[in-house]
Amino acid sequence: MPNLFTQPPRLPLIAPSILAADFSRMGDDCRGVLEAGGDLLHLDVMDGHFVPNLTMGPDMCRWVRGALPDAFLDVHLMVTDPEMYFEPFVAAGADHITFHVEVAPGDAAAKLCDSLRAMGVTAGISINPPTPVDEILAVTEHADLVLVMSVNPGFGGQAFIEDTLDKTRALASVLRPDQRLEMDGGIGPKTARAVREAGCDVLVAGSAVFGLASENRAGVVRGLRGGAG
Ligand code: DX5
Ligand code: ZN
Repeated sequence: MPNLFTQPPRLPLIAPSILAADFSRMGDDCRGVLEAGGDLLHLDVMDGHFVPNLTMGPDMCRWVRGALPDAFLDVHLMVTDPEMYFEPFVAAGADHITFHVEVAPGDAAAKLCDSLRAMGVTAGISINPPTPVDEILAVTEHADLVLVMSVNPGFGGQAFIEDTLDKTRALASVLRPDQRLEMDGGIGPKTARAVREAGCDVLVAGSAVFGLASENRAGVVRGLRGGAG
Protein backbone atom coordinates (compact mmCIF):
# COMPACT_ATOMS: atom_id res chain seq x y z
CA MET A 1 0.00 0.00 0.00
CA PRO A 2 1.55 3.39 -1.01
CA ASN A 3 2.28 5.71 1.90
CA LEU A 4 -0.38 8.41 2.01
CA PHE A 5 2.10 11.06 3.15
CA THR A 6 4.81 10.47 0.55
CA GLN A 7 2.38 9.63 -2.29
CA PRO A 8 -0.81 11.55 -1.47
CA PRO A 9 -3.74 10.78 -3.86
CA ARG A 10 -4.98 14.33 -3.23
CA LEU A 11 -4.14 17.35 -1.08
CA PRO A 12 -5.00 18.60 1.41
CA LEU A 13 -5.56 15.46 3.47
CA ILE A 14 -8.09 15.46 6.32
CA ALA A 15 -7.04 13.53 9.46
CA PRO A 16 -9.80 13.02 12.05
CA SER A 17 -8.31 12.66 15.55
CA ILE A 18 -9.71 9.57 17.31
CA LEU A 19 -9.23 11.24 20.71
CA ALA A 20 -12.66 12.81 20.03
CA ALA A 21 -14.26 9.51 18.97
CA ASP A 22 -16.80 7.52 21.01
CA PHE A 23 -14.40 5.09 22.69
CA SER A 24 -17.29 2.71 23.45
CA ARG A 25 -17.69 2.09 19.71
CA MET A 26 -14.28 3.06 18.35
CA GLY A 27 -14.18 0.84 15.23
CA ASP A 28 -17.61 1.92 13.96
CA ASP A 29 -17.02 5.59 14.76
CA CYS A 30 -13.69 5.57 12.90
CA ARG A 31 -15.25 3.78 9.92
CA GLY A 32 -17.93 6.50 9.92
CA VAL A 33 -15.49 9.41 9.59
CA LEU A 34 -13.56 7.63 6.81
CA GLU A 35 -16.82 7.00 4.94
CA ALA A 36 -17.58 10.71 5.44
CA GLY A 37 -14.41 11.59 3.48
CA GLY A 38 -11.64 11.52 6.10
CA ASP A 39 -8.37 10.37 4.47
CA LEU A 40 -6.61 8.85 7.50
CA LEU A 41 -6.88 8.51 11.30
CA HIS A 42 -4.80 10.53 13.78
CA LEU A 43 -3.96 8.72 17.05
CA ASP A 44 -3.00 10.96 20.00
CA VAL A 45 -0.69 9.18 22.42
CA MET A 46 -0.08 10.98 25.73
CA ASP A 47 2.09 9.75 28.62
CA GLY A 48 0.89 12.00 31.44
CA HIS A 49 4.44 13.41 31.58
CA PHE A 50 5.25 15.32 28.40
CA VAL A 51 1.62 16.45 28.52
CA PRO A 52 -0.84 16.47 31.48
CA ASN A 53 -3.10 13.69 30.16
CA LEU A 54 -3.17 9.91 29.51
CA THR A 55 -4.95 8.68 26.36
CA MET A 56 -4.06 5.47 24.46
CA GLY A 57 -1.30 2.91 23.83
CA PRO A 58 -0.28 0.36 21.16
CA ASP A 59 -3.30 -1.83 21.99
CA MET A 60 -5.70 0.88 20.79
CA CYS A 61 -3.69 1.10 17.56
CA ARG A 62 -3.93 -2.69 17.18
CA TRP A 63 -7.70 -2.67 17.68
CA VAL A 64 -8.21 0.13 15.16
CA ARG A 65 -5.92 -1.66 12.67
CA GLY A 66 -7.96 -4.85 13.20
CA ALA A 67 -11.27 -3.05 12.62
CA LEU A 68 -9.95 -1.05 9.62
CA PRO A 69 -7.25 -3.07 7.79
CA ASP A 70 -6.83 -0.46 5.02
CA ALA A 71 -6.92 2.74 7.07
CA PHE A 72 -3.76 4.88 7.23
CA LEU A 73 -2.79 5.32 10.90
CA ASP A 74 -0.91 8.51 11.84
CA VAL A 75 0.47 8.15 15.39
CA HIS A 76 1.25 11.39 17.27
CA LEU A 77 3.56 10.63 20.22
CA MET A 78 3.28 13.31 22.91
CA VAL A 79 5.65 11.43 25.19
CA THR A 80 8.97 12.15 26.89
CA ASP A 81 10.71 8.99 25.56
CA PRO A 82 9.36 8.39 22.03
CA GLU A 83 11.91 5.78 20.92
CA MET A 84 10.58 3.40 23.57
CA TYR A 85 7.24 3.23 21.69
CA PHE A 86 8.41 2.97 18.07
CA GLU A 87 8.51 -0.83 17.83
CA PRO A 88 5.26 -1.45 19.77
CA PHE A 89 3.30 0.97 17.53
CA VAL A 90 4.88 -0.32 14.31
CA ALA A 91 4.02 -3.88 15.41
CA ALA A 92 0.47 -2.67 16.19
CA GLY A 93 -0.01 -1.42 12.61
CA ALA A 94 1.05 2.25 12.58
CA ASP A 95 1.90 3.67 9.13
CA HIS A 96 3.46 6.89 10.39
CA ILE A 97 4.92 8.10 13.70
CA THR A 98 5.52 11.69 14.83
CA PHE A 99 7.60 12.68 17.86
CA HIS A 100 8.29 16.11 19.39
CA VAL A 101 11.44 18.18 18.74
CA GLU A 102 11.26 19.38 22.39
CA VAL A 103 12.37 15.90 23.52
CA ALA A 104 14.70 15.06 20.59
CA PRO A 105 16.41 18.19 19.20
CA GLY A 106 19.13 18.33 16.52
CA ASP A 107 21.03 15.09 15.80
CA ALA A 108 18.67 13.11 18.02
CA ALA A 109 15.76 14.02 15.71
CA ALA A 110 17.74 12.94 12.62
CA LYS A 111 18.61 9.61 14.25
CA LEU A 112 15.00 8.93 15.27
CA CYS A 113 13.73 9.69 11.76
CA ASP A 114 16.23 7.24 10.29
CA SER A 115 15.25 4.50 12.73
CA LEU A 116 11.54 4.99 11.96
CA ARG A 117 12.15 4.65 8.23
CA ALA A 118 14.28 1.56 8.89
CA MET A 119 11.16 0.10 10.55
CA GLY A 120 9.14 0.74 7.37
CA VAL A 121 7.09 3.73 8.51
CA THR A 122 7.34 7.44 7.70
CA ALA A 123 8.70 9.89 10.24
CA GLY A 124 7.29 13.15 11.55
CA ILE A 125 8.65 15.88 13.83
CA SER A 126 6.33 18.15 15.81
CA ILE A 127 6.74 21.56 17.44
CA ASN A 128 4.73 23.11 20.29
CA PRO A 129 3.43 26.72 20.23
CA PRO A 130 6.04 28.17 22.67
CA THR A 131 9.04 26.56 20.88
CA PRO A 132 10.98 28.87 18.48
CA VAL A 133 10.65 27.79 14.83
CA ASP A 134 14.46 27.62 14.41
CA GLU A 135 14.47 24.48 16.58
CA ILE A 136 12.56 22.59 13.90
CA LEU A 137 13.97 24.41 10.87
CA ALA A 138 17.32 22.89 11.85
CA VAL A 139 15.97 19.35 11.35
CA THR A 140 13.15 19.51 8.79
CA GLU A 141 15.27 17.92 6.06
CA HIS A 142 15.19 14.60 7.95
CA ALA A 143 11.38 14.37 8.28
CA ASP A 144 8.69 13.10 5.92
CA LEU A 145 6.22 15.33 7.75
CA VAL A 146 6.39 18.36 10.03
CA LEU A 147 3.57 18.91 12.51
CA VAL A 148 2.87 22.41 13.82
CA MET A 149 0.80 22.29 17.00
CA SER A 150 -1.85 25.01 16.97
CA VAL A 151 -2.78 24.34 20.62
CA ASN A 152 -0.67 23.42 23.64
CA PRO A 153 -0.90 19.62 23.48
CA GLY A 154 -2.82 17.57 26.02
CA PHE A 155 -6.52 17.91 25.22
CA GLY A 156 -8.98 18.12 22.34
CA GLY A 157 -11.54 20.92 22.00
CA GLN A 158 -9.12 23.79 22.68
CA ALA A 159 -9.05 27.17 20.88
CA PHE A 160 -6.78 27.64 17.86
CA ILE A 161 -3.65 29.76 18.54
CA GLU A 162 -3.39 32.19 15.56
CA ASP A 163 0.35 32.95 16.04
CA THR A 164 1.24 29.39 15.08
CA LEU A 165 0.35 30.21 11.45
CA ASP A 166 3.63 32.16 11.23
CA LYS A 167 5.52 28.91 11.86
CA THR A 168 3.53 27.16 9.14
CA ARG A 169 4.31 29.90 6.64
CA ALA A 170 8.05 29.74 7.48
CA LEU A 171 8.08 25.94 7.12
CA ALA A 172 6.00 25.91 3.93
CA SER A 173 8.72 27.98 2.25
CA VAL A 174 11.46 25.42 2.99
CA LEU A 175 9.78 22.00 2.72
CA ARG A 176 10.27 19.76 -0.34
CA PRO A 177 7.26 18.61 -2.41
CA ASP A 178 7.60 15.08 -0.99
CA GLN A 179 7.26 16.40 2.59
CA ARG A 180 3.92 17.06 4.29
CA LEU A 181 3.06 19.99 6.54
CA GLU A 182 0.44 19.12 9.18
CA MET A 183 -1.37 21.31 11.74
CA ASP A 184 -3.18 20.04 14.80
CA GLY A 185 -5.46 21.59 17.40
CA GLY A 186 -8.56 23.77 17.17
CA ILE A 187 -9.02 23.18 13.43
CA GLY A 188 -12.60 23.50 12.19
CA PRO A 189 -14.84 25.40 9.72
CA LYS A 190 -13.71 28.80 11.11
CA THR A 191 -9.94 28.14 11.02
CA ALA A 192 -9.38 25.67 8.16
CA ARG A 193 -9.06 28.26 5.39
CA ALA A 194 -6.28 30.20 7.14
CA VAL A 195 -4.55 26.88 7.85
CA ARG A 196 -4.63 25.85 4.17
CA GLU A 197 -3.58 29.31 2.97
CA ALA A 198 -0.56 29.22 5.32
CA GLY A 199 0.65 26.15 3.39
CA CYS A 200 -0.62 23.26 5.53
CA ASP A 201 -1.59 20.13 3.53
CA VAL A 202 -2.64 17.75 6.31
CA LEU A 203 -5.39 19.06 8.63
CA VAL A 204 -6.05 17.22 11.91
CA ALA A 205 -9.56 17.67 13.28
CA GLY A 206 -11.01 16.00 16.36
CA SER A 207 -14.06 17.69 17.87
CA ALA A 208 -14.91 19.43 14.57
CA VAL A 209 -15.57 16.03 12.92
CA PHE A 210 -16.19 13.33 15.54
CA GLY A 211 -18.31 15.78 17.56
CA LEU A 212 -20.93 15.88 14.80
CA ALA A 213 -23.92 13.68 14.03
CA SER A 214 -22.86 11.28 11.30
CA GLU A 215 -25.13 12.83 8.66
CA ASN A 216 -23.36 16.20 9.07
CA ARG A 217 -19.77 14.97 8.86
CA ALA A 218 -19.30 14.71 5.06
CA GLY A 219 -20.19 18.38 4.54
CA VAL A 220 -17.76 19.55 7.22
CA VAL A 221 -14.94 17.32 5.93
CA ARG A 222 -15.49 18.76 2.42
CA GLY A 223 -15.37 22.27 3.92
CA LEU A 224 -12.09 21.56 5.76
CA ARG A 225 -10.60 20.46 2.44
CA GLY A 226 -11.72 23.73 0.85
CA GLY A 227 -14.79 22.34 -0.91
CA ALA A 228 -12.70 20.04 -3.17
CA GLY A 229 -13.01 16.24 -3.35
C1 DX5 B 1 -3.98 17.68 21.21
C2 DX5 B 1 -3.96 16.64 20.12
C3 DX5 B 1 -4.93 16.95 18.99
C4 DX5 B 1 -6.39 17.05 19.43
C5 DX5 B 1 -7.20 17.68 18.32
O1 DX5 B 1 -2.91 17.52 22.05
O2 DX5 B 1 -2.66 16.48 19.58
O3 DX5 B 1 -4.79 15.98 17.96
O4 DX5 B 1 -6.88 15.80 19.76
O5 DX5 B 1 -8.51 17.88 18.76
P1 DX5 B 1 -9.34 19.18 18.33
O6 DX5 B 1 -9.41 19.15 16.82
O7 DX5 B 1 -10.67 18.97 18.98
O8 DX5 B 1 -8.61 20.38 18.82
ZN1 ZN C 1 -2.50 15.21 17.71
